[in-house]
Amino acid sequence: MKILVTGGAGFIGSNLLQLLVPAHSEHEFVNLDKLGYAGNLQSLKEIESAPNYRFSQIDLVDSQAVSEVFESFGPDIVIHLAAESHVDRSIHGPRAFVESNVVGTFNLLEACRRHWNGSTSARFHHVSTDEVYGSLGDDGLFTEETPYDPSSPYSATKAASDHLVRAYSRTYGMNVTVTNCSNNYGPRQFPEKLIPLMILNCLDRKPLPIYGEGLNVRDWLYVDDHCRAIWKVATEAKAGETYNIGGNSERTNRQMVDAICEVVAGKTGVAPTELTDLITRVADRPGHDHRYAIDASKVKNDLGWEPAESLESGLEKTVDWYLANPEWIAAVRDGSYRSWIEQNYAAREEQEGK
Ligand code: NAD
Ligand code: TYD
Repeated sequence: MKILVTGGAGFIGSNLLQLLVPAHSEHEFVNLDKLGYAGNLQSLKEIESAPNYRFSQIDLVDSQAVSEVFESFGPDIVIHLAAESHVDRSIHGPRAFVESNVVGTFNLLEACRRHWNGSTSARFHHVSTDEVYGSLGDDGLFTEETPYDPSSPYSATKAASDHLVRAYSRTYGMNVTVTNCSNNYGPRQFPEKLIPLMILNCLDRKPLPIYGEGLNVRDWLYVDDHCRAIWKVATEAKAGETYNIGGNSERTNRQMVDAICEVVAGKTGVAPTELTDLITRVADRPGHDHRYAIDASKVKNDLGWEPAESLESGLEKTVDWYLANPEWIAAVRDGSYRSWIEQNYAAREEQEGK
């Protein structure tokens, strides 16, 4: 099969390709990515010269370029991950999210519709988030039936893209599947998200900023487990199906940061308190969802998927990876990102009168 992966230079996409390309020499993979700030070809260096892998630098907003990939490659499966993915950035600059997540997904769907021309043997697998469901209170779980209620520009644009994908199935009979997954962590995640940010700030002895009380809850899933779920659903699920994917590992942000401090301290030989002392409460995120938690029983019952990694084992692998890859860290920390986060620290400190 010919498989087009979008967003393959990002966090989940690069881990997915690292898993699939060596394991499936019978399939050809093309990675379509615009190489935005979170896209990094260094995340793919282990597979860059594999005979069944090719990279194509394209922005999904450029419909002509997207069309040309379909003409030249002719994919049988599209696995769509490309998106602007960080909630905080969506609060500061929502336009890029509408462009990549909504217009980009639309352009990709249109290319599929034209190229596949009504064929239902080709499949569009859409990778989405549980954030489309909004926030839970202290109890309950998101199921595939939970109504959409997004809070941030990020989750609203992901919700819009999910609706477009399902509309292409109902209206044009396109063979689509959708996964809505909880928070991922693992190697190669851009250090603006909670877990890599905290690991790197621990290593640099910088403040560990916790939004608000630190009592918001996320359900954490190791990225390889998500990648196995994506592949299973994309290749085995019935057309039109949606699956929620989750790690069964709910933690408050404060618990998560304490756990990171402990693992980093253990691996670097410092006292855990030297790191937990860096924890700094900062102003809360506007529209901050209180809790996400997933009921993943449908994917377990239908397809036999379950997470293989525990939070403890996954966190250890993650910290090991960041400790072993200083050149990757140095590369992603150059450029615009650093000034963005430094501006935020400055703004938060100003808000708190420091
Ligand atoms: P990421 O930000 O690390 O990577 C996104 C990639 O998409 C980058 O390589 C970027 O260059 C590329 N991209 C963005 N806009 C593009 C465009 N217009 N054209 C071409 N490429 C573009 O994100 P991630 O964490 O790997 O997330 C991947 C997907 O998984 C997203 O769709 C996200 O909504 C979804 N998801 C993420 C999580 C999570 O916890 N990270 C959880 C559930 C679902
Ligand atoms: P994040 O990794 O940005 O993922 P998402 O917003 O998609 O869930 O954030 C995870 C949680 O951690 C979220 O509740 C916000 C919180 N958070 C902090 O407390 N401090 C930080 O510096 C960051 C980046 C996030």
